[in-house]
Amino acid sequence: MPNPPFIVGNWKMHGLSEAVSVAEEIARESRKSTARLAICPPATLLSRLSEALKDAPHIELGGQDCHYEAQGAFTGDISATMLKDAGAGLVLLGHSERRHGHKEPCSQVALKVKAALKAGLEPMICIGETLSERESGRTHEVLRRQLRDSLPAELEGQRFHVSYEPVWAIGTGLIATDDQIRDAFALIGKVLDKRFQGHVVPHLLYGGSVKPDNAQHLLSLEGVGGLLVGGASLKAPDFLSIIRSADQA
Ligand code: PGA
Repeated sequence: MPNPPFIVGNWKMHGLSEAVSVAEEIARESRKSTARLAICPPATLLSRLSEALKDAPHIELGGQDCHYEAQGAFTGDISATMLKDAGAGLVLLGHSERRHGHKEPCSQVALKVKAALKAGLEPMICIGETLSERESGRTHEVLRRQLRDSLPAELEGQRFHVSYEPVWAIGTGLIATDDQIRDAFALIGKVLDKRFQGHVVPHLLYGGSVKPDNAQHLLSLEGVGGLLVGGASLKAPDFLSIIRSADQA
């Protein structure tokens, strides 16, 4: 049986107290969904969502990043253990807004992945090329490097996910073409198979300007096992519409 699609909302740095009711609406209206569902709110909302959604175990919660140490003198950082303690079951790592905005190298992403595993969180590792990397014909090279250097050997036999997010498609309304997505997914699948030799079947997700009107099509593309949704996960009706697309996929 293939895995049901995994639909993950990445709220980024959005969400004050009122957002709890958005999550509650998503939870209420998605009870019958057969997809696997998760919301990654800002860390300040994790405990509150965990409490508000305690009767909605079909919505998992995730962090958006973590430090690679479990604790220590790291002002402003959050550890994987803390995310777990606040109710998260997974954590996004290596998102392009971390890689580029915070200059996080692959080696740091790999350390964070190890920390997440140690804390009992499922890591979702994001990879993707910039526009200039694509235009200079380096997409495969970049994806191979990110997979090699951001995924530590400790992932062997563990549950984890990889999300392909072309940097130029994030928050821009631009979407990768079907051929670009098929090509990237084929490469990622091949690299992971070789590296982990069929021991794990991680969910491969697509992210970057996923909207209600393109979700079903994206999920129909070979290899796309889920969607990482930014902007369109902030409004319950949009995210619910994407979830319904997953149920029909
Ligand atoms: P977007 O963001 O859907 O707003 O493009 C996706 C992401 O960054 O995970």
